[in-house]
Amino acid sequence: MRSPEDALLDSWQHNAQSWIDAVRSGAIDSRRQVTDQAILLTILGRQPERVLDLGCGEGWLLRALGDRGVEAVGVDGDRTLVDAARAAGSAEVHLASYAQLAAAQAYVGKDYDLICANFALLQQDIIPLLAAMNALLAPGGALVIQTLHPWSVADGNYQDGWREESFAGLAGDWQVMPWYFRTLASWLNALDMAGLRLVGLQEPQHPQSALPQSLLLVAEGR
Ligand SMILES: C[S@@+](CC[C@H](N)C(=O)[O-])C[C@H]1O[C@@H](n2cnc3c(N)ncnc32)[C@H](O)[C@@H]1O
Repeated sequence: MRSPEDALLDSWQHNAQSWIDAVRSGAIDSRRQVTDQAILLTILGRQPERVLDLGCGEGWLLRALGDRGVEAVGVDGDRTLVDAARAAGSAEVHLASYAQLAAAQAYVGKDYDLICANFALLQQDIIPLLAAMNALLAPGGALVIQTLHPWSVADGNYQDGWREESFAGLAGDWQVMPWYFRTLASWLNALDMAGLRLVGLQEPQHPQSALPQSLLLVAEGR
């Protein structure tokens, strides 16, 4: 039987072009208004020279970092998105699944000052992947994760578990994407189990919104 993880990555195959169009046209308000700037400022605040963008998608963050003099390497499991990131000018973008990365079956470089994952950790079992990323950090390096804020998306059910995203409200032809909801405690526990220590937590928010737009975690190796 197909696992939700497989269905998740498959959905990106189907959704890749609609995603590229949505991101590049600025169709996602929360990104344009809050979350793009939030992760960019958090990354730049640590003054990294070399960054790995895990689940980089079509590569907007690679380009934003490159424009500011940061060497940014991308990795993603969907070929169309990787091709789009390369075609848009990012020199080093690897095609690899999280399962391959967690099993050290794909080489994406090492000794990174910072590894970021922007709305890209959507599967259930993230601990082996986080541990593998921890091993790619240079001493003193950090992992920066921006994700859906559990409080904002719990929808009355504050428990870890699979949910579905239909991308309603965005133009394009979308396939439903399974994604794994995790509570704040579950996020912090996953970092801990992967040998990472939380050093920062932000809840980026739009002044006119009652709920935070994201949860932003910064962790370092122990
Ligand atoms: C919501 S998009 C975010 C993309 C990008 N970080 C951004 O900010 O636009 C999630 C990304 O995770 C990638 N992804 C999801 N599951 C994956 C897996 N198992 N292996 C590799 N990449 C995966 C998808 O291909 C997609 O590019």
